[in-house]
Amino acid sequence: MNDPKKTTTKSPYTLGSTARRMAAAAGGGLVLFAFGALVVQTGAWQRFQTMAGFTPDTPAPALTREAAEAKARQEMLAARAERKKDKEGKVAAPLQPTGPDGYFVPPLESEMPDGPEGDAIRRGRDIFIHTPQYAQRYVGNSMACAQCHLDAGRRENSAPMWAAYVQYPKYRAKNNKVNTLEERINGCFNYSMNAQASEAGKAPPPGDDIYKDLMIYMYWLADGAPTGEQMRGGGYIKVKETPQGYDHARGAKVYAQNCALCHGDDGQGRKDESGKLRFPPLWGPEAYNWGAGMARIDTAAGFIKANMPLGKPHSLSDQDAWDAAAYINSHERPKDPRQTGTIEEARVRFHKDEKSYYGKEVGGKIIGAGVARTSPVAAPKG
Ligand code: HEC
Ligand code: HEC
Repeated sequence: MNDPKKTTTKSPYTLGSTARRMAAAAGGGLVLFAFGALVVQTGAWQRFQTMAGFTPDTPAPALTREAAEAKARQEMLAARAERKKDKEGKVAAPLQPTGPDGYFVPPLESEMPDGPEGDAIRRGRDIFIHTPQYAQRYVGNSMACAQCHLDAGRRENSAPMWAAYVQYPKYRAKNNKVNTLEERINGCFNYSMNAQASEAGKAPPPGDDIYKDLMIYMYWLADGAPTGEQMRGGGYIKVKETPQGYDHARGAKVYAQNCALCHGDDGQGRKDESGKLRFPPLWGPEAYNWGAGMARIDTAAGFIKANMPLGKPHSLSDQDAWDAAAYINSHERPKDPRQTGTIEEARVRFHKDEKSYYGKEVGGKIIGAGVARTSPVAAPKG
């Protein structure tokens, strides 16, 4: 299900709109070069070439990625309408809509229904993107769902919600039981969102509207996806182990060169002029806690390889992805909420066969004790 993708993807923040601006300016020609640096950096240049038909071996002017995706959606919806008319049950269910890279295409914004259902989907999307704002009581750090599930949960290879939705209910070894989707989301609140340090001191209670809104958003994103299938681009990729293994000291160099620009030398992220946290923290009191999936070096390596640096997926070597993951996960972060006794007990019980520094020595010190917010932090907006 997890296959790395070599082509470029759009950056959730700027590229969608950049691409549209570029399309509008296409007639204007030279104006485009003003975007030069940004465009080349983020890989949009390649897309623009395709769009403008510049690629030498493109036989016919290729559709833009957006246009190809819209077409895939339209074809699926048309096939669905055909099937509805079929009285004898002879027309097969439509195939899943896929884009130029072979990944599932979730519904376009224009497909969002009106009425109470659409309202709930929009609320779920808002919670997903601006979690500290719309689920404030239950968020104990500065994270938002969409910071690890990119493009508002649409992006392949960043555990997209359309691939998750069709997999639940599902057995998970982490808690040794069948998990509903609500329970799975609850897990991300407990660990990735560090709910223990939130106003409520815990994740939203069972049946809370926050789950309902998030789940209907996910259901909507999965429209046209096959239930029970392990979908291409679902989850995070697995990066092959390297002969050198992983090393946080080597990772410090990778980090300085490729990550510090956005996430800060101190890993605490960066705010924009308005004070909104634009680039999320990677360690420290405002980051995911020691129990989070991202605190495992292999999981982080897979996320990083396919998604970081932002806008340059698959640009790091496997070795650099492993080392960068080791580096960010060699720093203190909030405590594992499951730890009640000693770190060693918790390490043996919850982190035994994990690729993680939890309870291990880094720079002469056992890490895993956790760092807490020093003062109650007002939820960052945005
Ligand atoms: C710090 C990063 C991070 C944040 C923030 C985060 N998640 Fe996750 N999420 C993960 C990781 C990592 C996994 C996969 C865990 C694993 O491999 O065990 C995951 C898995 C999931 C899954 C299951 C995916 C699948 O394919 O089975 C769902 C659903 C999910 N997250 C929802 C959410 C929601 C909703 C939020 C916000 C309330 C959220 N996540 C916040 C990192 C994060
Ligand atoms: C161009 C800016 C940029 C660069 C460079 C960059 N990131 Fe990120 N990173 C982001 C943004 C922005 C997000 C949140 C995703 C979103 O909002 O779309 C993110 C999310 C993350 C996350 C998950 C969220 C969290 O805070 O835990 C991790 C882990 C991460 N980046 C690691 C790295 C690593 C390692 C590198 C270097 C190899 C790197 N990033 C380089 C911008 C950047």
